[in-house]
Amino acid sequence: MNIGILNIKGRVLCAPLAGVSNRPFRIMAIRFGAAITFTEMISSEGIIRNQSKTMSMMDFQLDEQPLGIQLFGSKPESMRRAAEIVSCRNSPDLIDINFGCPVKKVVRKNGGVAVLKDLVLTEEIMRATVEGANGIPVSIKIRTGWDNKTPVYLEVGRIAEKVGIAAVTLHARSRSGGFAGAARWEAIRELKEEIKIPVIGNGDVRTPHDAQRMLDETGCDAVMVGRAALGNPTIFRDMNTFLETGQLPSPISVKERLSVARMHAELTIAEYGSQSGPKMMRRYLGWYVKGLPGASKLRPRLFQVETLNDINCVLDEYLQQLV
Ligand SMILES: Cc1cc2nc3c(=O)[nH]c(=O)nc-3n(C[C@H](O)[C@H](O)[C@H](O)COP(=O)(O)O)c2cc1C
Repeated sequence: MNIGILNIKGRVLCAPLAGVSNRPFRIMAIRFGAAITFTEMISSEGIIRNQSKTMSMMDFQLDEQPLGIQLFGSKPESMRRAAEIVSCRNSPDLIDINFGCPVKKVVRKNGGVAVLKDLVLTEEIMRATVEGANGIPVSIKIRTGWDNKTPVYLEVGRIAEKVGIAAVTLHARSRSGGFAGAARWEAIRELKEEIKIPVIGNGDVRTPHDAQRMLDETGCDAVMVGRAALGNPTIFRDMNTFLETGQLPSPISVKERLSVARMHAELTIAEYGSQSGPKMMRRYLGWYVKGLPGASKLRPRLFQVETLNDINCVLDEYLQQLV
């Protein structure tokens, strides 16, 4: 699939997830077949103020590419300047604009999905970002609108196409929909029929069958997977296999699943060090063991690990008890 000048292989993308999509998470997604990964959303204001924490969130290497840096902000000039800085300093494969975040802290400053209440501003932000991006393709990620009464996705799609946006991801819920109820995939189909630039469908794609069904029902060019990838990076491999062959790969054993968790832990420790790495890994380990037999007893132990050795010991003991 082409997103502007960027060609990505595969039709399953790894969603940006704030507080989750760090470098190890992205490497795991790419290793297991995600077509592209994203940073979590990054404040355009933080970038133009050169805040060190913000800047470090944008660092990436070859093993997590293709990669998109996702920006948010409510001021066109800030978004232009941030896109300029990102394009020169980091040169990602893609710059994505967040028009979907419903979190109060972001919406209060008129960022994220709040921008969709004002389509003049939405257009200005898109134009400014494209102008600042120095030829790097710019995509947008939207919800259907601020609330269910005022859907704007078709209009935003038309504007996006007009101002040179390279692709639109639609999380098929409004802001007021939060994460409740089923995503309205019908909206993705309507958007796909409305515009010519690629449409990426998002919302409730949890299994390989879901991925196929979303592609079939909506005609979208690719799907984006968020929550189903938590503790489960092999989902990308499974989805790719199913989309390419129509066959489901045999489910991975508990032992293999935990080997994937160990690989993730090693990457996290390599990135953040032997002190912070294991602590950062606790939440992810909780996701890896979700649904496994005896997970409720295992999880509290994983939440106390201090070292890679602790992680390996807890997982080894668990595996021994299973046989
Ligand atoms: C913990 C969490 C963090 C998220 N952070 C972001 C973000 O930084 N940027 C963004 O565009 N969407 C963010 N999202 C939304 C997801 O990218 C995605 O649109 C949403 O989870 C629906 O997809 P899913 O049903 O596959 O999870 C976040 C979602 C979750 C659950």
